[in-house]
Amino acid sequence: MKKQTVTSIQKAKGVEKLTMITAYDTLFAKLFDGEVDFILVGDSLNMSFSGNADTLSIGLKEMIYHTNAVCRGAKDTFVICDMPFGTYVDKKTAFKNAKKVFNKTSADAIKIEGGKSKAKIVKHLTKNSIAVVGHIGLMPQNVRSEGGYKVKGKDDINIESLIQDALAIQEAGAFMLVVEGVKADAAKAITEAIHIPVIGIGAGVDTDGQVLVWSDMLGFFDEFKPKFVRRYLDGASLVKNSVKQYVTDVKNKEFPSSLETY
Ligand code: KIV
Repeated sequence: MKKQTVTSIQKAKGVEKLTMITAYDTLFAKLFDGEVDFILVGDSLNMSFSGNADTLSIGLKEMIYHTNAVCRGAKDTFVICDMPFGTYVDKKTAFKNAKKVFNKTSADAIKIEGGKSKAKIVKHLTKNSIAVVGHIGLMPQNVRSEGGYKVKGKDDINIESLIQDALAIQEAGAFMLVVEGVKADAAKAITEAIHIPVIGIGAGVDTDGQVLVWSDMLGFFDEFKPKFVRRYLDGASLVKNSVKQYVTDVKNKEFPSSLETY
């Protein structure tokens, strides 16, 4: 697969579905490199990599560290770095922090959560040559202020408000939009209302593409499975069984064999 650019991404809308997966390290980035259109260094790493309850406590330093690890593995894939909670509260702070990401990593773009209320900030970034992906609908960085993860787009008023969010972020110069946790009809309406590609997660089949968190889709996170996740591998069982086998082999003096010995 040829590496996407902000221009090729625009041309894909309505022509082919786009694919995105998260990665947080070089090893998995290498495995995904060239297989998907985008690798997202999501702030979800604060949960699935670091074991925290939500995404809010990760800082920019950690995001830059993981983005560099991913970029080292993803030579041929467009890499997007999530801006963590609190790093884009106003235009000046947002540019200072996005500039840090662009200065210190080779990420191709950054991602910001928020609709109309963040449009001025997105515009300031895009005017200053930062490639921005928007993120609307269920925004994990709002989990504490909203008292949980709430699916959006359940009524006409909310659907209209989401469309206005999408239009505002597009108008501000974002080249792509992630739409998370919205009813399928709402995601379809958003996708039809804007000309930049919409990548869905828990947003039905009618968006321009899909994104999944790697540890969900490969079954390494097995405590629960959100409705929108499809597991393509039972990673947790494979790892646990392999480790059990290794322990048995060591205990029974079956590892290492003569072939594995100097
Ligand atoms: O942080 C993340 O992994 C994300 C995706 C779920 C879109 O924002």
